[in-house]
Amino acid sequence: MTTPSTFAKKYRPWALVTGASSGIGAEFVRQLASEGLNVVLAARRGDLLKEVSQEVERRYGISTKCVIVDLSEDDAVEKLDQQLRNIDIGLVISNAGTGHPGHFLEQDHREQLERFRLNSLSHFNIARIFCDRFAKRGGGGLLFGGAMGADHGIPFAATDAGAKALVQSLGESLHLELKRKNIQVMTLVVPPTNTAIITKFGLDPADMPMKPMSAEQCVSEALRHFKQGRSLSLPGALNRFLSSIIPTKLMRVMMGKMIEQTLAKNAKRAARAAASSSMLLGSPGE
Ligand SMILES: NC(=O)c1ccc[n+]([C@@H]2O[C@H](COP(=O)([O-])OP(=O)(O)OC[C@H]3O[C@@H](n4cnc5c(N)ncnc54)[C@H](OP(=O)(O)O)[C@@H]3O)[C@@H](O)[C@H]2O)c1
Repeated sequence: MTTPSTFAKKYRPWALVTGASSGIGAEFVRQLASEGLNVVLAARRGDLLKEVSQEVERRYGISTKCVIVDLSEDDAVEKLDQQLRNIDIGLVISNAGTGHPGHFLEQDHREQLERFRLNSLSHFNIARIFCDRFAKRGGGGLLFGGAMGADHGIPFAATDAGAKALVQSLGESLHLELKRKNIQVMTLVVPPTNTAIITKFGLDPADMPMKPMSAEQCVSEALRHFKQGRSLSLPGALNRFLSSIIPTKLMRVMMGKMIEQTLAKNAKRAARAAASSSMLLGSPGE
């Protein structure tokens, strides 16, 4: 059984991590459990949640609870709150999210709205419902998952950038406003990090101008900044240096170019694959 750290004593007994089934969220679960906090893991893929929860229970002797929830649904956070009504949560890591780059006007509108609800509204609802709980219990902590560059706009990822920019602004506003209620709010400005999202974007880490960092580094720097009481955390010294010297306009152009090139490359690859499979299908009869 892990002895609770000073940090765990401040936010115990339970933390809630959304998007806990993989990547950065799963790493938050590991690092919070290693501090001695019990953790509620939430996401859609129950089998993966179970794997992570069993791993941390075994390694750190803490308790876990898994909740299957689709945070792109309208009333998801209310349902989550209901399921956790008997659990005293002192810390929430609102991390669940995704991205789907593409041409704004060519993407499916319904699917864009679903992602917008997941990447923005669910964070808003989590803040409203869980900070209310924190105020009643005398304090707590909320960490939002944002995205590097979102506050400047990211061409060809406009929907997701817009949603994450909203989260960053919400986080910075609440950081000051809720301090007097003993609630620490911080936004993690997630830099390129080596998780499933990189592959989903169709990016090859080898082709990226900056190598993505590990989820371990991203989370341990974020937790260090959270403990220091910061409003924002951008992990990686190089990321901090580059974002301080590159003008935002140039950064927006560079990110847009990288994504546009990736989209074009993926489209070519898909067309080649489709052509070769249609040749294979056509060959027996020829
Ligand atoms: N990695 C990067 O380079 C990068 C850059 C910028 C921002 N981010 C942000 O960082 C956060 C963590 O992403 P990651 O890099 O760790 O990628 P990941 O491995 O794909 O993790 C995403 C997590 O979000 C959960 N999730 C996705 N859709 C959901 C839904 N509708 N309802 C509930 N949970 C959902 C996923 O679980 P299920 O699929 O099981 O539901 C998964 O646990 C996300 O908010 C992402 O947008 C990442």
